[in-house]
Amino acid sequence: MPALSDYIDLSQPSLWVAVGSICFNPLFWNFVARQEYRNKVLTKLALRKPYLGCYLLGVTIFGLGILRDHLYQTALASQPTLPFLHYTEFKLVAAAVFAWGSILVGTSMWALGYTGTYLGDYFGILMDHKVESFPFNVTSSPMYTGSTLCFLGTALWYEAPAGLVLTALVYVVYQLALAYEDPFTGAIYARREAERASAASKGKQIDAAPAQASSSAVRSRRSEL
Ligand SMILES: *[C@@H]1O[C@H](CO)[C@@H](O)[C@H](O)[C@H]1NC(C)=O
Repeated sequence: MPALSDYIDLSQPSLWVAVGSICFNPLFWNFVARQEYRNKVLTKLALRKPYLGCYLLGVTIFGLGILRDHLYQTALASQPTLPFLHYTEFKLVAAAVFAWGSILVGTSMWALGYTGTYLGDYFGILMDHKVESFPFNVTSSPMYTGSTLCFLGTALWYEAPAGLVLTALVYVVYQLALAYEDPFTGAIYARREAERASAASKGKQIDAAPAQASSSAVRSRRSEL
């Protein structure tokens, strides 16, 4: 009778390191972003320059993403494989899934720009309008969807059932992150709309507003790396 350990080796520390990294990343950027929004911690550290703070956070998030991907692959390399997945067809599926995931992540970064991707809205750097072009017309959170697909493609490539379990964890973690982030960023943009509406009614000033309240817009969501 097949045992669980034929599919996933829970005794490998690298597996738990990967679990930790997958859970840590969204916790980290949400914690830091909320701190930034409430107390302007990064902006203060970055010599009161919100753009510099956002760039530094972006570099950090990007680096943590690279590290997490590395830890994930390291974990899969020491996990049992499923002979069933050892077919060329699955390698092709793995490559296609990974490629599609990368396209979703890459094109959403392109569409959002640097500050749109890396939580600029928490720094007061708001998007001018909601991005609805590709890939946002395919899925509402293409970065999370794309990133999850990259995990799935990698799991198939390594033929490792443990990778499928970790991919499911990535999915759950991203769903939780979305449930936590979306209402908050929605409120940031709703506040900007309210400020603009009140400014307009107070005498139709022409746009002299700082970056905090640029032109009209609804919220637009980045979604991770
Ligand atoms: C999304 O936009 C792209 C590029 O403009 C287009 O080719 C594609 O058909 C659109 N997809 C959907 C589902 O609307």
